[in-house]
Amino acid sequence: MAILVKNIKQLVQAEPKKIKFRAGKEMQNLPVIDNAYLLTEGDKIKDFGKMEDLNASILAKVKEPIEEIDATGRLVFPSFCDSHTHIVYAGTREVEYIDKIKGLSYEEIAQRGGGILNSVLRLHNTSEEELYDAAWQRLEEMASYGTGAVEIKSGYGLSTEDELKMLRVIRRLKENSPMLIKSNFLGAHAVPAQYKQNPDEYVDLIINEMIPMVAAEDLADFIDVFCDKGFFTCEQTERMLMQGIKYGLRPKIHANELDYSGGIQVGVKYNALSVDHLEYTGDEEIAALKGSETMPTILPGAAFFLGMVCAPARKMMEAGLPVALASDFNPGSCPSGNMQLVVAMGSVMYKMLTEEAINATTINTAYALGEHEVVGTITKGKKANFFITKPMDTIYFMSYGFGSNKVDQCFLNGKRV
Ligand code: NIG
Ligand code: FE
Repeated sequence: MAILVKNIKQLVQAEPKKIKFRAGKEMQNLPVIDNAYLLTEGDKIKDFGKMEDLNASILAKVKEPIEEIDATGRLVFPSFCDSHTHIVYAGTREVEYIDKIKGLSYEEIAQRGGGILNSVLRLHNTSEEELYDAAWQRLEEMASYGTGAVEIKSGYGLSTEDELKMLRVIRRLKENSPMLIKSNFLGAHAVPAQYKQNPDEYVDLIINEMIPMVAAEDLADFIDVFCDKGFFTCEQTERMLMQGIKYGLRPKIHANELDYSGGIQVGVKYNALSVDHLEYTGDEEIAALKGSETMPTILPGAAFFLGMVCAPARKMMEAGLPVALASDFNPGSCPSGNMQLVVAMGSVMYKMLTEEAINATTINTAYALGEHEVVGTITKGKKANFFITKPMDTIYFMSYGFGSNKVDQCFLNGKRV
């Protein structure tokens, strides 16, 4: 069934050409068509434009029956792309959350055996089926808030067996969900307790056993390392990334959340698709990112939840860099995958204009997923992943009206979800 959405008050991110991302000042440019239509056929965007240009010959080319939807008073956006999540996990971590409220830092909680290692233990004791069901529900909730593409990391296994278990869950989600899903192997999320005295032994296990096995089953698109103070050093990160690249996994890494760790520079050196978090980003890090193919990605939900300093988004954009915003949905530092909230946080916390925040959550995160040719803008031939909002006047309401769900109907692959 083809879909014709008519009388759209504003069709947002309507971009005739396939672009890679928007950077610097260009992030203020968000193409919008007033009083527009959007036509899909099969799972793709077939056409779009001004209502006055919609005519019978455009519709005559469609080979399927057409469902018409009247979007008077409503906006249409391309689905959000969420390029950083950890949604395969078992159980929640409220106890630790209370510790945080009492003032313990992320590192202090990690040192007490809480944090990531807490989720590792729970995941070990949870079946693949239960993990799948819980992650499926999270995906459904994310879709209801307008997300259409998502990256999912492993990293709560930290043993060969449990990392593979997580990645197999992600593979099943990929096979069954209408979302576009990319998989990221994050064996180096934390050092497991039994390797505390000799973390290099764990790094060796990742290099010699996990990466080859992950690649043999074709279970991941990317490789990730938490390259930061108290987690993995730059040298360890380099060793793991080199092996990952050898096995066809492009790096996308956690960097500079806790310190000027050198993680950003390591990411750029190994042509990471993105470096994520970035609270500790200074002039040197910005200089390293300039001219690279690496998308600087900020995770406002985690910074909000942990009460961190904000990454210098404005400074990065002023330096001409692109900025992407993703959710980091995970049980420890951001138990939410609501990308509308991420847009609002982009504006409130990082002083990003609504246009910048929408570019940062659509085309720039599509790039950070390696899928900018396929999703992220309303462009002919791209996947028909979009949503129709509840009645609203302007795009600015998307970053202003925080907390409520502004999405009314979602479509993925040209089908209502
Ligand atoms: O992206 N920074 C590292 N890892 C996650 C947190 C995961 C957790 O606490 O469970 C993050 O914030
Ligand atoms: Fe993360």
